[in-house]
Amino acid sequence: MHRHPDLDPSTSQEDPIEYSLRPQRLQEYIGQIKVKARLDIALQAAAKRGDVLDHVLLFGPPGLGKTTLAHVLANEMGAPCKVIQAPALEKKGDLAAILTNLEAGEFLFIDEIHRLSAPIEEMLYSAMEDRKLDILIGQGPSAQTLKVDLRPFTLVGATTRAGLISKPLHDRFGMVHRLEFYTRAELAIIAGRSAELLGIHLATEGAEAIARRSRGTPRICNRLLRRCRDYAEVKGDGTITMASAEACLKLHEVDDLGLDSLDREYLQAICHKHRGGPVGLRTLAAALGEDEGALEDLVEPYLMQVGFLDRTPQGRKATDAAYAYLGVASDPGPLFR
Ligand code: ADE
Repeated sequence: MHRHPDLDPSTSQEDPIEYSLRPQRLQEYIGQIKVKARLDIALQAAAKRGDVLDHVLLFGPPGLGKTTLAHVLANEMGAPCKVIQAPALEKKGDLAAILTNLEAGEFLFIDEIHRLSAPIEEMLYSAMEDRKLDILIGQGPSAQTLKVDLRPFTLVGATTRAGLISKPLHDRFGMVHRLEFYTRAELAIIAGRSAELLGIHLATEGAEAIARRSRGTPRICNRLLRRCRDYAEVKGDGTITMASAEACLKLHEVDDLGLDSLDREYLQAICHKHRGGPVGLRTLAAALGEDEGALEDLVEPYLMQVGFLDRTPQGRKATDAAYAYLGVASDPGPLFR
């Protein structure tokens, strides 16, 4: 049940246009100023010592550039980067084969690292800490453990939920960085950069109109940019202006805050069906016919960021601002008091 394209493995991973827009160097990477400053020091220090970069854990909502940043780090170190989705690692042998084949200094990016199975995660501990791998050969009483030395490497792990990472795994990362939603100004710069790379005519006000509706997320910004290009080419002279961007995004039911129909349905479910909450995630997911993970990763973080949603131990609660946005009063009226 993947209604949302960002959670559908067949569409979210290898978008060739998204790939072509990826910055290659830290200098080109827009936003995430604090994370960049810390990484810059770590990169320079590692290079100065002739050492590999420490293992890095990146967390934050989808679309903020975790994969991009992993490639940027590898590029900065002049090293290749292998990419793997955690659920694709089914057997310990899968990980053993990857780790033993890594070249000295190579980067291994494990996406969705919170989804590793326990035996594979345990295998990573000694690989990360001591660059050693215990490989069991044979079965029964004649089984033997073979200790294999690994070449120095950097593991970059990415997760949308830091809370789901076990403590032993978390503790083996030398750096843990949280990516934050981008500001409108940063997104306008990203839109301008992408437009230039794709040969799209984008007016300053058009970039601002897109940035404002991108929910703090470059992936959404780049997607909206392409829809606005289509619209401008069909309905106008090909230049994305403020008016054409606004008309296009209205057509796609993206509102002035960037909320789409799923965001609105989610808020309506809490406010109307559950009188503002608290309501459990599972109940909301069932009401919307949506997967809990999609709501948790793609819908809730931005609704919390804009102050429409509170996550409490009792469940999800809509704020007064959410009611104001939906155009209804938060007071349920005398019948419900
Ligand atoms: N494209 C997607 N994310 C980006 C970023 N942070 N900087 C530059 N271009 C991007």
